[in-house]
Amino acid sequence: MKTKILFVCLGNICRSPAAEGILRHMVARSGLEDRIEADSAGTYAGHAGELPDPRMRRAAARRGYDLTHRARRIRREDFHAFDRIVVMDDANYENVHRLAPSRDCAGKIFRMTDFCRRSARTCVPDPYYEGDEGFELVLDLLEEGCEGLLDELRNRSRD
Ligand code: 4NP
Repeated sequence: MKTKILFVCLGNICRSPAAEGILRHMVARSGLEDRIEADSAGTYAGHAGELPDPRMRRAAARRGYDLTHRARRIRREDFHAFDRIVVMDDANYENVHRLAPSRDCAGKIFRMTDFCRRSARTCVPDPYYEGDEGFELVLDLLEEGCEGLLDELRNRSRD
């Protein structure tokens, strides 16, 4: 059975599509495409239909990630379609939690930084109004988090 991961941020044009692209890349490199699937969404619909922000696409491309996701807003059905919903910051957590149709569904929500084993940060900060360093920091945290998440999923499937 496939494990389905939905990454969520505010606009779905910077952090969560990058997380999706990074996890997809790692999954493909590990030959796990038939076991793990990634998607992303935002809590705000203002950028729906757009490709990721050009600053994020450029920064991600420099690290070998091609980001082609089209932004969309998270829907209540996503709680049933996905096994885990991984948010970037506290505001995302609150907004997604408010949308959860049941307590079981709310139990699917995690923070990206829960899977970061080196960084002590508790959120992946919004880079939208930041310079290039903001985007690099986001990518560093997302690479670390996706690595931790993938390891956890691999270990679970061995149980
Ligand atoms: P994201 O970044 O949540 O990482 O996609 C943002 C994108 C758009 C806006 C804010 C953050 N905005 O205010 O439009």
